[in-house]
Amino acid sequence: MSAAIQKVAVIGAGTMGAGIAGLCAATGVEVILLDLQTETSQKAIERLTGGKRPAITEEQAKLITAGSLETDLQTVEDCDWICEAVVENLQIKRDLFSKLEAVRKDGSLLTTNTSGIPLKDIYADMPARMQHDIAVTHFFNPVHVMKLVELIPGSKADPSVTKRLAEFLSGPLGKGVVYAKDTVNFIGNRIGCNWMLSGLHKAAESNLSIETVDALMGKPVGLPPTGLYGLIDLIGLDVMDFVAKNLDQNLPTNDPGREFIKMPAPELAMLKNGQLGRKTGGGFYKLSKSESGEKSMEVFDLQSQTWRPMSPASLDNEHMDIATLMFSDDNEGKFAWDLIGSTLAYTNSLVPEISDDIVNVDRAMRWGFGWAQGPFELLDAIGPKKFAEKHAANGGTIDGMLKVLQDSGNDTFYKGNTYLTTAGNYEDIPAE
Ligand SMILES: NC(=O)c1ccc[n+]([C@@H]2O[C@H](COP(=O)([O-])OP(=O)(O)OC[C@H]3O[C@@H](n4cnc5c(N)ncnc54)[C@H](O)[C@@H]3O)[C@@H](O)[C@H]2O)c1
Repeated sequence: MSAAIQKVAVIGAGTMGAGIAGLCAATGVEVILLDLQTETSQKAIERLTGGKRPAITEEQAKLITAGSLETDLQTVEDCDWICEAVVENLQIKRDLFSKLEAVRKDGSLLTTNTSGIPLKDIYADMPARMQHDIAVTHFFNPVHVMKLVELIPGSKADPSVTKRLAEFLSGPLGKGVVYAKDTVNFIGNRIGCNWMLSGLHKAAESNLSIETVDALMGKPVGLPPTGLYGLIDLIGLDVMDFVAKNLDQNLPTNDPGREFIKMPAPELAMLKNGQLGRKTGGGFYKLSKSESGEKSMEVFDLQSQTWRPMSPASLDNEHMDIATLMFSDDNEGKFAWDLIGSTLAYTNSLVPEISDDIVNVDRAMRWGFGWAQGPFELLDAIGPKKFAEKHAANGGTIDGMLKVLQDSGNDTFYKGNTYLTTAGNYEDIPAE
């Protein structure tokens, strides 16, 4: 066991910072929570203990001390872990890390909760001591619910940094740690955002209704019941736009995801009109109330840009199982192949660029996006050979792990408690 983390500083008391501070306090760890103003940190603590289902008790909240960066920066000096969760802005993060470096103690751990800024840009030209102790700890929202934390050490970080963080995250904090690399959007958001952005384009071409698209992506594929459009309503089109801009800046120039960075015209119009999703009272879906007080769901027709009553989709048996759905020759099957097939092919080609192994990829999608099975588990359910044949017949390249599988002469990515490595042999699946 490495030196335990007993006191934590969280910088930034917004959605994520408050969540991380609450999670630590709930395990009995002392926390310092700093934002631009003490009032902001104080309000974050009130949010944690308030509402119908408080994230922490009043007693646990006493472990959190609210403060401001201007007056209380020095209080981080005896913290074992300093977790930054301020706005997603490189310069703001760099300025903050410089200030933290000046006051933190030797051996303390420094992490950022960035969603997509490359870690190397944050620590570039920073002192060697910081580069030794820095990592990304990427929590998912809501922090106390989502199991996933992506852990990405800096290229010069000491291995003990990853070890100490992983022990604390998976031990007292009860999270599922996924080891990722310092590549744009890491694992979960790289795959998940590609699925969502390409999904908007492919769904538009499919001629299927919003309800059918979401129904197909739900149970048959094993994604959460929100499907595609329902999930984007939850996230917000403004956040999707922000994500797309980050991808535009940071995706490799030859990345196939570039094709889908710009949202289709109807979604851009919705963005312009402020029809962003649940937070603005409606996006693709909205809950309406008639004059008599009766509630009903409406769906936004993307072609006519008008609202209509929601009409729940009913799927045939053939469409209820991914292994048959993907090979069905009707609109539903073609769409499922188009979207899920390309998402799986994209993911397949990203190993080992974004992850050393398939296990971390599958865990990221299960723990961070609520998929019932990760991409390689889905490929196993479909049949990798069958998938590769159709992919190749459609002009796709057999690369990445599909090529490793083919060359190794095996049939599945997982066998019992083992998984296929990039070297083409099977190894034990590491404990969670
Ligand atoms: N919200 C999510 O779903 C989510 C998920 C994973 C990661 N993230 C990442 O976590 C970080 C925080 O996101 P969030 O959603 O909590 O944002 P937020 O807007 O809810 O909170 C950001 C906080 O930073 C503070 N802040 C702004 N400028 C600052 C400065 N110069 N110095 C110090 N504090 C400052 C703000 O007062 C605010 O309280 C970002 O890097 C974001 O990309 C967000």
